[in-house]
Amino acid sequence: MVGEMHCNELGSLSIGSSPVRRPHHYGDGMPADVTVADVESALRGVVDPELGADVVDLGMVSNISISDGVATVGIALTIAACPMRDQIEGDVIRKVTAIPGIERTEVTVTAMTERQRSELMSVARRMARENSASTMVNPLTRVIAIGSGKGGVGKSSITVNLAIALRSAGFEVGLLDADIWGFSIPRMLGLNTRLEADDDRKILPGLAGGIHVVSTGLLMDDEETALMWRGLMLSKAVEQFLHDVAWPADLDYLLIDMPPGTGDVQMALARLLPQAEMVVVTTPQKAAQKVAARVADMARRSFLPVVGIIENMSGFTADDGTHYELFGSGGGTELAADLGVPLIGQIPLDPLVVGGGDEGKPVVEAHPDSPSGSALMAVAARLVELVPPAADETCTARIAVLMDQLESAKQ
Ligand SMILES: Nc1ncnc2c1ncn2[C@@H]1O[C@H](COP(=O)(O)OP(=O)(O)OP(=O)(O)O)[C@@H](O)[C@H]1O
Ligand SMILES: [Mg+2]
Repeated sequence: MVGEMHCNELGSLSIGSSPVRRPHHYGDGMPADVTVADVESALRGVVDPELGADVVDLGMVSNISISDGVATVGIALTIAACPMRDQIEGDVIRKVTAIPGIERTEVTVTAMTERQRSELMSVARRMARENSASTMVNPLTRVIAIGSGKGGVGKSSITVNLAIALRSAGFEVGLLDADIWGFSIPRMLGLNTRLEADDDRKILPGLAGGIHVVSTGLLMDDEETALMWRGLMLSKAVEQFLHDVAWPADLDYLLIDMPPGTGDVQMALARLLPQAEMVVVTTPQKAAQKVAARVADMARRSFLPVVGIIENMSGFTADDGTHYELFGSGGGTELAADLGVPLIGQIPLDPLVVGGGDEGKPVVEAHPDSPSGSALMAVAARLVELVPPAADETCTARIAVLMDQLESAKQ
């Protein structure tokens, strides 16, 4: 329906009737089937932060071409000096380069004509009216799934600590425990309330230190509920958490603690939350790095861009200052280089992480200045740089104000 509206109403701006070229021929050895449609569907994950609609529906994609594994995407911004330009460009590059078979993405940015701008605004207004959100998560919320190939590498510990670090930096943070059967988030956050529903029968997240938390561990108070959740497919259970939870509309970040290794939850996330991205946790070991690479590959196949790698359990420093590389070294750096993504940080092996998790007082809260606490704080800060929160004021918001002024000036 949105597609029709877009084709009929955007005229020269729309993908359907715009000068989008069909893919050229591919060089030998390239997966031969990356199409303009693949690029277009990846671009649906680039959401204009102000309008909450994707750049395809907004008619901001003026051109797509693919040649020898290089995708060229033309983006028409509302104004050339758009303050969101870097973010939109960066998002386009990450989303499109995540397609297997695309080696590099080039973005050409142009400014819209006055007519294009007014078309965009009428589409945006209509979409805002008609937008019946398919999940309860605001499209402006940045969604970061924390995953790994192997169990026990520290996903849940990292997720709770990042949530607290982001919260202490002033962000609104949600935490979805997608480890439906092996949940550990409630214990790690010292949360033992039971979730309740609001008047619309939506589940209200629990609150731990200002973080909005949902986990099956907060629902299973009797055997019957436990059985019901166990009977659900993993991806269905996660889907319910996105549809049936009243996530606050002003969340800056929603962190998702992934169950170990599975691909169907990744696929469900990519389908339900086009803005979702993934951080991969690995230990410095070679074996772990290989399994982590498989997860990153699976993520890419389901169009979840990998933001970067976190290496956990990177060496241990004893009280006498002796440093031990208990799990080897270099795994995170190598994996990041292989995937062409940044190494977001390295977190040392530290008993304070274990203690914090067991006592419900994560290390960044209990010992922020410890080596592991400060490493986790640094990871959170880097993550905010890589995946910045949606800005308050964007070019489209400015345009809306300008257009309203123009309209009232005419009257
Ligand atoms: N940097 C660290 N230093 C010391 N212990 C750690 C560190 N990170 C995690 N741990 C410990 O390792 C164990 C596994 O961590 P965690 O449960 O966070 O991993 P996970 O990847 O979520 O596991 P699962 O795959 O089972 O969900 C926990 O006991 C945790 O306290
Ligand atoms: Mg876990």
